[in-house]
Amino acid sequence: MIVTFSADMLAQFAEIVARYPEKRQKSALLPILHIVQAEYGWLSVDAMDKVAAYLAIQPIEVYEVATFYTMYFLEPKGKYVLEICRTGPCCLVGAERIIKHVENRLGVKEGEVTEDGLFSWRGVECMAACGFGPVLQIGPDYTFYENLTEDGVDQLLEQLKEKAQQI
Ligand code: FES
Repeated sequence: MIVTFSADMLAQFAEIVARYPEKRQKSALLPILHIVQAEYGWLSVDAMDKVAAYLAIQPIEVYEVATFYTMYFLEPKGKYVLEICRTGPCCLVGAERIIKHVENRLGVKEGEVTEDGLFSWRGVECMAACGFGPVLQIGPDYTFYENLTEDGVDQLLEQLKEKAQQI
């Protein structure tokens, strides 16, 4: 995917870079990657290379950050990404059952994208809401949903489909 940063994106980049001392523009890397990901849905090599050029750093310095943090997506994903906690405490209260339900309802395996382009899902580690499991969060805005049930997941998916039609 070839990307072009819009004037609005460049203005946001500049505002972030200005927060840091001169020659420390690399400090703006994480928030700038979030802006790029919000615009394009994921971070292609071209996008990362252009961020590197903008910040006057080496492409490898961007790759090593983007590949370290799981909040950055390095492949195309659905408009909504359901991130379901699969750590012990959530599993004790049904997370594995919820994961299976999501997989069946969406008809795609972890990391895949539904045919309509709306959904992906993946298992993630503890999201610090262990007392309210099973839990999931949904990107791109990382809204939390707690005490999940199969019915609750179904309602959530329907709400997201309706929301997508309104945008
Ligand atoms: Fe699921 Fe902590 S174990 S939020």
